[in-house]
This record gives sequence, structure tokens and C-alpha cells, in this order.
Amino acid sequence: MIGDKLAQYTGKLDHVKTGLTFDDVLLVPKYSEVSSRRDVSTTSKLTEKIGISVPIVSANMDTVTEADMAITVAREGGIGIIHRFMALEDQVAQVSRVKRTESIVIENPYTLPDSSAIGDVRDLMNEKNVGGILIISKDGKLKGIVTSRDLRFVEDQHSAVAQIMTKRSDLIVASKKTTPEEAKEIMQRNKIEKLPLVDAGDRLVGLITAKDILKRKQFPKACKDSKGRLRVGAAIGVKGDYLERAEKLHKVEVDALVLDIAHGHSLHAIEAIKKIKKTLGREIQLIAGNVATRQGAIDLIKAGADSIKVGVGSGSICITRIVTGSGVPQVTAISECSLATRDSGVTLIADGGIRNSGDITKALVAGADSVMIGSLLAGTDESPGEIVYRGNFRYKVTRGMASMSARKQQLAKERGTRHEINHMRSSDEQEPDLIDYVPEGVEAIVPYKGGAVNVIRQLVGGLKSGMSYCGAKTLTELRTNGEFMRITDVGLKESLPHDVEEL
Ligand code: XMP
Repeated sequence: MIGDKLAQYTGKLDHVKTGLTFDDVLLVPKYSEVSSRRDVSTTSKLTEKIGISVPIVSANMDTVTEADMAITVAREGGIGIIHRFMALEDQVAQVSRVKRTESIVIENPYTLPDSSAIGDVRDLMNEKNVGGILIISKDGKLKGIVTSRDLRFVEDQHSAVAQIMTKRSDLIVASKKTTPEEAKEIMQRNKIEKLPLVDAGDRLVGLITAKDILKRKQFPKACKDSKGRLRVGAAIGVKGDYLERAEKLHKVEVDALVLDIAHGHSLHAIEAIKKIKKTLGREIQLIAGNVATRQGAIDLIKAGADSIKVGVGSGSICITRIVTGSGVPQVTAISECSLATRDSGVTLIADGGIRNSGDITKALVAGADSVMIGSLLAGTDESPGEIVYRGNFRYKVTRGMASMSARKQQLAKERGTRHEINHMRSSDEQEPDLIDYVPEGVEAIVPYKGGAVNVIRQLVGGLKSGMSYCGAKTLTELRTNGEFMRITDVGLKESLPHDVEEL
């Protein structure tokens, strides 16, 4: 009897699944008609409504993405997600900075009243980092313009701005209907850099700058919205001020919100998705995660997510798998989740663990529409933080957002005691809020790599070559043609430089 009953049981290791990650597999080379990287298109989607010309998303980490990184990544054709570990108003300012960097028409150019002093103009120019301020009357009529050239040799800061501005009577202006081509022609003919737009009553309604027109030529693949502004995303949490954050970010026209929690397959995340969609409307583009299973992806899609971020414990600075014992090797996680996103109108972002362009190609074959990159971009000029030296080598610091170091800083910011907590040593952690904190990330250094553009272009170049090896001219063809082969440890050894001494 007992024996019969026991015979029905299955052991936890019976039918156990195997999880594979990037180094466990290679892509089988296929017949290819690609003769040049120029034949290959890396166009993809962040969400169904947001096109990207390179499938790269910079991670919402405080050592990776603030406005500088987001601007560079968007100009290269991807998109950056501004992290959330700052005051709400700072995050809103970061998003606004990206959105103002370029546009066809600047709809709300910086202005000052005609009663202002020269010093006010100089201050505003410095604060906003712009080269010109428009001067208007109380009723919004255009009165003149001051550019940095007008200020160059002026010492007196107290005199009225009217003394140095180019007056309305000498200004070339145009109407709001002016096309970029017409604006270019007007600026060229009159040798001017800024073209104010006015309505029939001479009220200022916009500004077109030569710089914006040139930028369009310089970065033809840039990821832009319908107004010609660079696209940018921003992360929010699922607790505290997250709904207010979402609303304020939406107000400054953030392109996508990223619901950022480590264990996204949770009631918290599902409720937050529903609440955000209910409050801000279905149109708001909402990326949710992180998950690592098909069911996780299905549940977030059902709740209303527009894109699913996949990766639990895959990141370079993550110790989640060690601390909790949970996670799914990344290629398996992507492949599983893609079974839920495929044909659903919801995209998949493979987040974490990308170390080179080959990993990107593998992630896309496994079913991702784009990859999120952290540490690979952390050592660049555009990532927040200073360069540190070790011997003759230069590095930058990166860290998990669930590391002890990040937690200390978040706590210090909440309390306004940055100095005190930042200087605590890990052995001193008697602080009540830290003593129970279990980090799931580490702090580390990565080699300094110069500008992020070089890193991105190397990654995209490698991806294009990878597509060629799979006989694919588009990412759709890559997904169809791509075929994985599982390799052994010896095979991996063969893949790396071997039996030579690298210089
Ligand atoms: P890479 O490998 O590109 O990964 O540096 C970036 C991703 O790592 C995740 N992340 C964390 N995961 N503990 C974790 O388990 C952490 O402290 C942590 N911080 C970041 C995140 O998904 C990021 O995009």
C-alpha cells in the first residue's frame, strides 16, 4: 500500500529543465547574401509605438543613464532610460533636458521680459546652457534677441537688456507654418543661426535653430518623436511617490515609463501597471519587469504592459542568484518570455548580462526586440561619476541598484545626511535601516572607455556582422534564420583566443 503511494511521487529533480545562457550557445553560420554591413538594417521597436534604429537601451542605473547618456544613445538610434534614484524634480529636469536638446521647432524657447538686466540674460544662458535668449514684452510680443556673441565683451551686468539686444526691427522672423527646408533656406540667405517664429499679432510662438537642422544631418539614425525631439524613457518604482512621478514625467512628455522592480512577477507590479494605465491612459508606453518566465510575461501583458523587461540575476553587478537562489539563465529566460510576447503586440527587452556584440545577436535570435545595457556603458564619458585611477589605468565605478553602496546613498538622500552615511564602512553597519538590508548587487569598477558613441558603434557593427553570419538583412530575418547550437566548455575555450599570449 505504502509502496504504491510512494510510487506516485515525483522528485523535485525529475523533469528538471535546463537553463542556458550566452556562453552555452553559438549561432550556426548560414548562407548569406549580405555583401556589406550597409545592406543590413538593425531597425527594431522599443514598444509597438516607438521605433528604434539600433536595438540598444541604456539601463536605468545611477552609474549609467542620466541626460548625457540618454542624448548620446538616442542620437545613435537607441534610447536611454533615466534612473529613478533622484528627487522627482531632478528626474523631471533630466527628461526635459533630453527633450529640449533637439527639435524641429522649439515650442517654448527660453525668454525674458524686456525689463530684464544684462546679468539676468547671462544667468539664464548659463543655467540652461543655451546660446540665445528671446526678449518679449508683457503681452508676449517679440522685442529682440540676445546671443552669447552680444554678451562677449560686456562687463556691465545692470544695464537694460535693450542696450545690447538685436531689436525686433532688425530681426528676420517667420511664421509657424515654415517648413524645416524653408527655415534652412531663410537662415542660409540671411546668415543667421536662429529664426524666431511669430503669429499675426507678432507674438512669439516658437524658434528654429541652425544647430537643430545640422544635428539632423549629423545623426540621421537618431531616435526621435513626431516633433523631432530625441526620445527618452524614465524609470519609476511601485511604491511611495511612483504614481506622482509617473504623472509628472508624463507631463514633460517622457516617451516611455519603465516600471523598475527586481521581481516583476508580483502583485505589486501588476497593480502598479493597472493603476498607471488607468491614471495616465492606455496611450502611455509602459515597460514592465523584470521577469524570467513565460507566465511572468503573460501576467504583465494581461495587466497592460507594452513591453516586458526580461532578466533576473543576469546583470554584471547582480548577486540575486547567489543571495536568493533564484533566477533563469538569460538565453532561456528570453526564449521562454518570447513565447508570451510573440504576436501579442508587446515587445521584449533582454536586460542584463550583455558583454559583447555576440551576446546582442544571441539575445535577438532568442526573441528579444532590444537589449538593455548597463556596465558596458558605465565606463564612458556620458555615464555619471568620475574617473578613478588604479596605477596607470583609468576606471569608472558602477554598482547594482540593490547594492549596499546604492542603498546607503539612497538612505542618505532621504535623510539629507549624505556625508555621514557615505562614509560608513561596511563593518560599521549598525544603522537600523541598513542592518536588515540584504544587498542583491555589488559595487565595482569598469575600465574607462572614452565616449559612449565608440562603444555603441562597435556593438552595432558586431551585431551587423552577426546578422550577416545568420544570412539576415533585417532583425525579423535574424529571428527566423538564427539557429542555436549548444556548446561544451571545451567549445567555449576554442571560441576564445587560445594557445597564444595576448598583447
Ligand atoms: P549589465 O550586465 O548590462 O546589467 O550591467 C544591467 C542590469 O542589471 C540589473 N541590475 C541589478 N540586478 N541587483 C540585481 O540583481 C542589482 O543590484 C542590480 N542593479 C542593476 C538591471 O536589470 C540592469 O538593467
